[in-house]
Amino acid sequence: MSEPSDLVVAAAAATMPRIRLNDGNRIPQIGLGVLRIDDEGVTPVVKAALAAGYRHIDGAAGYNNEAGVGRALAETGFNKGRRRRNLWLTTKLRDSEQGYDSALKAFDDSLAKLQVDYVDMYMIHWPTPFNWRSGDTWKAFVKLRKEERVKTLGVCNFLPEHLERLHDETGEWPAINQIELHPTWQQRNVVEFCKERGIAVEAYSPMARGADLNAGDGTIERIAKAHNVSPAQVILRWHIENGTIIIPKSVHVARQKENLDLFGFALTLEEHAAIDALDGPKRAGHDPLTFTYA
Ligand SMILES: NC(=O)c1ccc[n+]([C@@H]2O[C@H](COP(=O)([O-])OP(=O)(O)OC[C@H]3O[C@@H](n4cnc5c(N)ncnc54)[C@H](OP(=O)(O)O)[C@@H]3O)[C@@H](O)[C@H]2O)c1
Repeated sequence: MSEPSDLVVAAAAATMPRIRLNDGNRIPQIGLGVLRIDDEGVTPVVKAALAAGYRHIDGAAGYNNEAGVGRALAETGFNKGRRRRNLWLTTKLRDSEQGYDSALKAFDDSLAKLQVDYVDMYMIHWPTPFNWRSGDTWKAFVKLRKEERVKTLGVCNFLPEHLERLHDETGEWPAINQIELHPTWQQRNVVEFCKERGIAVEAYSPMARGADLNAGDGTIERIAKAHNVSPAQVILRWHIENGTIIIPKSVHVARQKENLDLFGFALTLEEHAAIDALDGPKRAGHDPLTFTYA
C-alpha cells in the first residue's frame, strides 16, 4: 500500500462529501478526533491535519486540550475570516457543567480557549440519566444558537429513551447523535431510531480505537489486500458508504492522510455485507446508562 500523494489528498479534501443536517447546515463527512492528545501535543497534530486537508475537528472541553486546538487555529489563520468559514469545529460540554447557567458559562470558557467567535457544533457529551439535566442544558444551547455563537446543536451517547426525553422536554431532536459505532458494535437500534427522526449519526471510535483493524479473523485484512488499501481505509470506507459521519483520531500525519483518502475505491456488495456481519457485543468505550466524563 502506498502513501497517497499530496495531490490525491488535496483532491479528496476539495471533494469531501458534506452531510446535510436537519437544521440545514452541512458537515464534512470526515473529521479529526482529538481525544487522548495532551494540550501541548494537540497543536502540531491539528496543524498537520489542517495542512493535510481536514476541515472538521472534533474536540471537547473534557479532552482538556481546547487551548491547544485554539493555538493551532490561531497560528494557521483558521480562527477567523474565510478559513474559519471553511472549517467545521465541534466542541462538547463537560457533564459537570450541564444545566442552564453553568452551560452558558462553560461555553464562554470554551470559546475563549478555542480563540474563535463561534463553534459549528456544541454537544451534550453524555446523557447522565442518573442526574438528568439535558432539558435545561438544551435551553442554554438554544440561546447560544440564537446568538449565532453556535450553528448546530448535537448530543453524544444518547440512547432512544434519552432522545425521546429530550424531545419531550424541548420539542427538538438534535441535529446529530455522536455514538460509539464500528464493525463489531453497530448499535443498529440507535442508528435506526435516529434515521427515522432525521438525526444524523456520527461514529466515534470508528475503528474501535484500532481493535477492529483485524476484526473477523482477517476479513478486514483480506478486503484491504484486494483493493491495495489499508485495513483502516476499509473500515472507514464502510462507514462512508453507510452515510455515517466519522471522526478518526491519529497523531501521525501519514495516517491522517490515509484516513481522508477513501474515495478512490468502493467495497463490493459482498465485502460490505461481510463487514455488516461482524456486528457483535464488542463495546470499546463506556455505557451511556452509567458513565460520566466529569
Ligand atoms: N463523544 C464521545 O463520548 C467520544 C468518545 C470517544 C471518542 N470520541 C471522539 O472520536 C474520536 C475517534 O475515536 P477514538 O480515538 O476513540 O478511536 P479511533 O479513531 O477508532 O482509533 C484511534 C486509534 O487508531 C489508530 N489509528 C488511526 N488511524 C490509523 C490508521 N490509518 N492505521 C492504523 N491505526 C490508526 C490511532 O493511533 P495513532 O494516533 O497513534 O495514529 C489510535 O490509536 C476521538 O478522538 C474523539 O474525538 C468521542
